[in-house]
Amino acid sequence: MDITYLGHSCFIMAINGYKILFDPFITPNPLAGNIDVNSLKPDFILLSHGHSDHVADVEKIYNNSKTTLIGGFEVISWFKNKGLENGHEMNPGGSWKFDFGTVKMVSAVHSSSMPDGSYGGIPGGFVIETSEKTFYYAGDTALHQDMKQIGERFSIDFALLPIGNNFTMGIEDAVIAAEYVNTNKIVGMHYDTFPYIKLDHQYAKKVAEDKGKSLLLMQIGETVNI
Ligand code: NI
Ligand code: MN
Repeated sequence: MDITYLGHSCFIMAINGYKILFDPFITPNPLAGNIDVNSLKPDFILLSHGHSDHVADVEKIYNNSKTTLIGGFEVISWFKNKGLENGHEMNPGGSWKFDFGTVKMVSAVHSSSMPDGSYGGIPGGFVIETSEKTFYYAGDTALHQDMKQIGERFSIDFALLPIGNNFTMGIEDAVIAAEYVNTNKIVGMHYDTFPYIKLDHQYAKKVAEDKGKSLLLMQIGETVNI
């Protein structure tokens, strides 16, 4: 499956002929100036929580494409109230079979509010089972014990984990998270975008390697087959 990094925690993946976009934050991200947000035509947009560094470009992309929003109840309801009617509300613990695969919303330890300050429900992450790969998109989260259940219940091929520290776990905890979900393959996210989350790439790779994990730090705009 092809995965393209669009900066911060935003990725677009090609899965079973569908394009799935995660947590779009592109136009406000100076590091993502090479990405043309208007060219993105995802079939689905998954939203981990309501913070603006995860939803900033939802409206623009929605209006440019025929897409379905997937995320927590309050996040999707907020967008529906703004006229973005095509959305599927979930909450942690629930799963639903979409055309591209089955999405289970899982817990995240973080906060969530919408860009206008209104209540964003609780944050989440996603375990996505497809006929190609099964993977974990953690969203913004601390390391937490529920991740062990993901490792017990699913055969995770790779995990997209926040590694920037301060607002989420850092690389040391992310390596433990990879252990909990039982994968050796980490795709890093939520780093470098803001001064508080500037990452020492060499150090992070070494921390991962020392624990037998591979850490993929993608260039913004880069596509890899994973
Ligand atoms: Ni957040
Ligand atoms: Mn964030």
